Amino acid sequence: ASEQRQKQVTLSDVLEKACDAYKKHLKSSHKAVDYLKGRGLSGDIAKQFGLGYAPEGWRSLASVFPNYDDPLLAESGLVIASVDEGSGEEKRYDRFRDRVMFPIRNVKGECIGFGGRVLGEGTPKYLNSPETPVFHKGRELYGLFEARHALREHGYVLVTEGYMDVVALAQLGFPNAVATLGTACTPDHVQKLFRFTDSVVFSFDGDAAGRRAARKALDGALPYASDVRSVKFLFLPPEHDPDSYIRAFGKDAFARYVSEATPLSRFMIEAARDGCDLNTAEGRAHLASNARPLWSQLPEGALKRQLLGEIAELVQLNSRELSEVWNGPAKAGK
Ligand code: GTP
Ligand code: MN
Ligand code: MN
Ligand code: MN
Ligand code: MN
Repeated sequence: ASEQRQKQVTLSDVLEKACDAYKKHLKSSHKAVDYLKGRGLSGDIAKQFGLGYAPEGWRSLASVFPNYDDPLLAESGLVIASVDEGSGEEKRYDRFRDRVMFPIRNVKGECIGFGGRVLGEGTPKYLNSPETPVFHKGRELYGLFEARHALREHGYVLVTEGYMDVVALAQLGFPNAVATLGTACTPDHVQKLFRFTDSVVFSFDGDAAGRRAARKALDGALPYASDVRSVKFLFLPPEHDPDSYIRAFGKDAFARYVSEATPLSRFMIEAARDGCDLNTAEGRAHLASNARPLWSQLPEGALKRQLLGEIAELVQLNSRELSEVWNGPAKAGK
């Protein structure tokens, strides 16, 4: 275990050194600075998030890591080591080339990975560090370290999909934003967030992918939506994400969306009723069937009891009848 810890410290050191190098490269790259300015970012906010630039060369990192063959470089995900199938020779090269770099930190502030965006068009649009001993996408959230004090001050966290959303929101008055790392929001993410705040507001893109992400986040959040913890969902117009929306319409307009966000209870019932015709017994029965796996994930408490009543009403049963439908008849004497 101590060997493991030793290793993790070293990996993080390597990543931190790369982070410094990327920051320096940004200062001397006109095109990267122009790209960030073109997206409305201030120098201050770029500095605050430690944004950088990975140059074009295949081995740019060799200038800061003279021993380019050090296995730690490959293990950190900064260097790709691939074996040429023909010659059997191993080739090593920088994973991130000609990209704007977003350092990803754990809650202790240690650099654990990067997201890199192409300047303009190109695929993949974002390239992330691979899973490593220190980087687990399903657990980490971009911007959580930077947002940690703001979460307490604002009393809630905004969970977005993208790096740019976090940075733009921070610049324009919402420093309490984080992003999942190109993955669905997991129960681990939600549990982690509730260590910092008792109120989570999901703010995904208004497009179809964002809607699907919200539906997945609902699943991740249900077990944690207790009587004292609040979960809400904010739905932007289809053509917008938080970054584009707040830049187009400003802080107050975005704040209005936050204050009108849909509570988890309503979103859960909407999700269950999706596609059901409540004018027919079949449609109502279908709703009951859809609602069961959602409702049953909620922790015991007043919220759960009330929602049983609400669902029962939609299905035109009473709470006891709906319980019986879901769990079988209650035993005598119980
Ligand atoms: P911008 O175009 O820079 O504003 O990015 P965005 O964050 O708005 O991108 P989008 O809404 O398309 O995607 C949301 C998030 O999914 C991104 O921030 C990335 O974390 C991730 N993502 C997007 N495209 C890719 C990709 O090509 N590869 C990977 N691995 N992740 C991606
Ligand atoms: Mn680990
Ligand atoms: Mn999107
Ligand atoms: Mn965007
Ligand atoms: Mn987006």
